Amino acid sequence: MQGKNKILRVLSGIQPSGKLHLGNYFGMMKPAIELQATGEAFYFIANYHALTTVTDAVQLRAATRDVALDFLACGLDPARAVFFRQSDVPEVTELTWLLSTVTPMGLLERCHSYKDKTARGIPANHALFAYPVLMASDILAYQSNLVPVGRDQKQHVEVTRDIAIKFNHQFGDIFTIPEPVIRENVAVVPGIDGQKMSKSYDNHLELFGTEKDTKARVMRIVTDSTPLEAPKNPDTCNVFALYRLVATEVQTQEMAGRYRAGGFGYGDAKKALFAVLWDYLAPLRAKRQELERDMAGVEAILTAGAARARGEARRTLDAARKAMGLD
Ligand code: ADP
Ligand code: TRP
Repeated sequence: MQGKNKILRVLSGIQPSGKLHLGNYFGMMKPAIELQATGEAFYFIANYHALTTVTDAVQLRAATRDVALDFLACGLDPARAVFFRQSDVPEVTELTWLLSTVTPMGLLERCHSYKDKTARGIPANHALFAYPVLMASDILAYQSNLVPVGRDQKQHVEVTRDIAIKFNHQFGDIFTIPEPVIRENVAVVPGIDGQKMSKSYDNHLELFGTEKDTKARVMRIVTDSTPLEAPKNPDTCNVFALYRLVATEVQTQEMAGRYRAGGFGYGDAKKALFAVLWDYLAPLRAKRQELERDMAGVEAILTAGAARARGEARRTLDAARKAMGLD
């Protein structure tokens, strides 16, 4: 089936495991939304994956709803992209099993994400270990060509490629071999402590946080101890790294100039960052509020997306079943 798609299929997923932050937005959502124009997009809410960390049903339901609103508010266009909940396509779990049979243990043992999560105290259960195979299934079920993700997910796309190549070699040409799409210039968004922004480090700036909380967190961004009068290097400053993401090119150049000139303190830089960030997010907030007033409309988008996605997954699953002798 490889090469069968003339239009490039772009696929990505996001876990409903907490409030979205700027790292998710610049690392995943924004590139994914821009790619809507490039190909046929399939975007989904990875709620099966979230079960590896979210164990409360009420919380999972609420987070799923939030991510649906967030994604649509950020510009996912249901007329262009197929948008759905992962669990509305149970075919991917069956495909996961088929793929598991060609997945070497060593391939999964090498995955950083598993090692990192268990090191942080997340129980090392089978689902957490097999997580990349479910992700491979998500990608392969829809014959995806391009997978826009943050750098931390690149290894999982590579695992997917290895699994697909092995399966195709063993059972015939069933799966398209996908490529990760990583935005190198915005690949890692720093958190307020300068480490990678992540909800698990509690160093994030929420995309739809309250004004008060967002401001307070911006004011807590870690900076060095260069005195106010001294010239400063914008390129090593966490405040500037975030500012350039939300400011225009002209504003960014002006800010860099102020840093280098000296006499400009980090407190002022943080206030400028907050102002620009809050304005940048204003249209997204407005759109989200509008969507929230029409939850039935949001549900209809997800239901229609699931029907479309399910048809695709079924076709791939049937081909894989047949190739393996399960027909
Ligand atoms: P978190 O680290 O907060 O748990 P996830 O691992 O759920 O975030 O990431 C969801 C998506 O957002 C992934 O595609 C991931 O690569 C991207 N992403 C998360 N944090 C960042 C960041 N700081 N910079 C760039 N992309 C990120
Ligand atoms: N594992 C991804 C994350 O945590 C989410 C995800 C699940 C995904 N399945 C996917 C991303 C398939 C891209 C393609 O961010």
